Amino acid sequence: MKICSTIAEARAACHAARAGGQRLGLVPTMGALHEGHLSLVRAAKAQCDAVAVSIFVNPTQFGPKEDLAKYPRPFDRDCQLLEKEGVGILFAPPAEEMYSNSNSNNQITWVLVEGLSEKLDGRSRPGHFRGVTTIVSKLFHIVEPEAAFFGQKDAAQLAVIRRMVRDLNFAVEIVGCPIVREPDGLAMSSRNAYLDQEERSRALVLQHSLQRAQQEFQAGERSAAKLISAAKEAFRREPQVKLDYFEIVDPETLDPVEQVSQKTLVAVAAYVGATRLIDNVVLEPRTEAC
Ligand code: PAJ
Repeated sequence: MKICSTIAEARAACHAARAGGQRLGLVPTMGALHEGHLSLVRAAKAQCDAVAVSIFVNPTQFGPKEDLAKYPRPFDRDCQLLEKEGVGILFAPPAEEMYSNSNSNNQITWVLVEGLSEKLDGRSRPGHFRGVTTIVSKLFHIVEPEAAFFGQKDAAQLAVIRRMVRDLNFAVEIVGCPIVREPDGLAMSSRNAYLDQEERSRALVLQHSLQRAQQEFQAGERSAAKLISAAKEAFRREPQVKLDYFEIVDPETLDPVEQVSQKTLVAVAAYVGATRLIDNVVLEPRTEAC
């Protein structure tokens, strides 16, 4: 695996990987890799001739009171995992390489998907999606992938990136991949490492609330208000977990729906102790659920 820490090295390696019309896939990550990330790598390997992974803990998508400094950075372990998956290129730049200085003070050009960036996580984390779309744009320009792979786990992020690619005519196919879960149902996340044993078991309330909504839906309920109220019962039984949002929305516009009459996103975010976790499920009336 070629490890690139500068933009120039990454450009050269990606250019070589695309030589002769080879299809290059990109998997953008912030590292601390788990099976969720590796599922994206495997999807990219299956659909592309060559795969580039980026590891960059992007300062501009963290709020001032968020966990940028303590975000896990097990770089050697990440490299081993990617080697084992047969990844050809790893782009892991220092913050100064992407933003001229490590505080990103020099960045005055931003990519902003208006409106969408203020919904769901964007409402709770002002500026977050502006940071995401800006760094993903930079990565697309450097790597120039034919396809880029993102997890459905971050459903709002996926919607924002799809819209950015459409509106700015990026020549990249966005591939969404299913949520990978722990055996007990908790969605895998690099932030699960912050949870102590008690918090780890409390964290299951996110999954339980989604299951409640899904069960009611399967039993024929179509009113979003009623599905939300059933789901919120799970949180009433776990008062130590602070609900951030539980919403039923259109998966593209992220606008709330009143009735579940087509493919609909049910998304939840909550604070388990100091750790903010998110999860979601998609309801599909014709096939009942997925
Ligand atoms: P990060 O949280 O490291 O996630 C990288 C990718 O892995 C994202 O597309 C995310 O949706 C996916 N992912 C995380 N957990 C997953 C799970 N349990 N199942 C399936 N996919 C999962 O998301 C980011 O980094 C950043 O915002 C980034 C896009 C890299 C921009 O900085």
